[in-house]
Amino acid sequence: MRTLVTGGTGYVGSHTCIDLLARGHEVVIFDNLSNSSSDVVSRIEAVSGRVVSFHQGDVRDQKHLEHVMAEFRVDAVLHFAALKAVGESWTCPLAYYDNNVGGTLSLLHAMTATSAGALVFSSSATVYGEPETLPIREDAPTRATNPYARTKLMSEEIITDYGHAERGFNAAILRYFNPVGAHPSGLLGENPRGVPNNLLPFVAQVAAGEREFVRVFGGDYPTPDGTGVRDYLHVVDLARAHVDALDYLASNRRNTTVNLGTGRGHSVLEVIAAFEKACGHEIERRIVERRPGDVSSCFADTKLAEDVLGWRAQLDLDQMCADAWRWQCRVSNNKSGNSQLADSPFIASPSTLGTRS
Ligand code: NAD
Ligand code: UFG
Repeated sequence: MRTLVTGGTGYVGSHTCIDLLARGHEVVIFDNLSNSSSDVVSRIEAVSGRVVSFHQGDVRDQKHLEHVMAEFRVDAVLHFAALKAVGESWTCPLAYYDNNVGGTLSLLHAMTATSAGALVFSSSATVYGEPETLPIREDAPTRATNPYARTKLMSEEIITDYGHAERGFNAAILRYFNPVGAHPSGLLGENPRGVPNNLLPFVAQVAAGEREFVRVFGGDYPTPDGTGVRDYLHVVDLARAHVDALDYLASNRRNTTVNLGTGRGHSVLEVIAAFEKACGHEIERRIVERRPGDVSSCFADTKLAEDVLGWRAQLDLDQMCADAWRWQCRVSNNKSGNSQLADSPFIASPSTLGTRS
C-alpha cells in the first residue's frame, strides 16, 4: 500500500514506519516537526535500508495534504500527528482542539478529495478516564477528563460517524495504553523536550545522572505496593499493531476500535526495579504526593486486539527498560558530544540506501 504517515517523525510514528517498510509498504511522511526533527527520516532509512519520502507540513493545511496525497496516490493513512501532553492541554486547550480535532477534520476532507479509503487513528486509553472495572474492555464507558482526552474522543466520534456515512472509507481506532521503550538499534526513541511528564523517560534520565531522583507520585493507592499501576507496552509491539490494522482494513473493509496493551499492569516501583536491572545500578526515588488527575490502576483487556487484528504484545517490561536504557545512553552521549551513529548492528549498509525523494 502507499501509506501516508502523519506525525511520522514522532515517537510512535517513526517506529511504525520501520514496520511498514519491512512489510513492503511505500511510505510518505507528513510532519510539521513541531515535536520531532528531520534527522529521524535518515534514521528510519538507515534502520530500514529503504527510501522514505518526507514532506514538512501541517495536517491542518488541507490543500498541502491533498497535494501530497494525490501526487503519491495514497491508499491508506496512519494518523499520528497530534499534541499529546495532558497538562499542557489544560493551559492551551484551543491549541489542542485546533491541532488534534482540526487536524483530523482536515485529514478526512483530504482523504475524501483523494479517495483514500483506509485510516488508522492513534487514540488513547485516556478516553476511559477513571475505570470502573479492570481490565478495561473497549465497550467500557468513555469519560474524558481533560482537554487532550476530549480531543481524542471527539476525533474518534468524528471518524466513526464518517465511517458509517461514507462507503469506501474504513477506520481502525487504536487506543494505546502506555507506550515505552525504543528501537533496539538505539537509533529511534522518545526524546522529550524539557522535563519529561511520563515515568519511563524520567526514570531513564535519573539513571543517566541527568536528574537527581524519581518522584513517585503517591504511595497510598489501593495497589499491591501502594504505587500507581499501568499497562506499559513496548513501542515496537505497538508499531506492529498499526501494520496489522492496515492489513485488517484491506481485507475486511470494516470499522473497528481496539485497545493496545499487554493486559498486564506494573506499578511504579516495579518499573524502577526493572530499570535498575537494565542499567545495572540503583535509582534514587522518593515517594511524594499523588499527581492530580492520576488514576490508581489502568490496564487493558486485549482479547479484541487478538481476535480482530491477530495481534498480541510480545516484549516484556525488562525488554522495554533495556531498550529505553540503550536509547538513553545514546541521547546522553550525544549531549556530551560522543555521538557514534554508525556502530549499530541494526543499521543497513550505506549501499542499500537510495536518495530521498
Ligand atoms: P510525538 O509528539 O512524538 O509525535 C507526534 C508527531 O506529530 C510529531 O513528530 C509532531 O511534530 C507531529 N505533529 C504534531 N502536530 C502536527 C500537525 N498539526 N501537523 C503535522 N505534524 C504534526 O507523539 P507520539 O508519542 O509519537 O504520539 C503519536 C500519537 O499517539 C499522538 O496522536 C498521541 O496523541 C497518541 N498517543 C500517544 C501516547 C504516548 O504515550 N506516546 C499514548 C496514547 C496515544
Ligand atoms: N509517575 C510517577 N513519577 C513520574 C511520572 C509518572 O510516579 O515522574 C507515575 C504516575 O503517577 C502513573 C505512572 O507513573 O502512576 C505512569 O505515568 P505516566 O505519566 O507515564 O503515564 P499516564 O498513565 O499518566 O499517562 C499516559 C500518557 C497519556 C495517556 C495515558 C493513558 O502520558 O497521554 O497514558 O493512555 F493519556
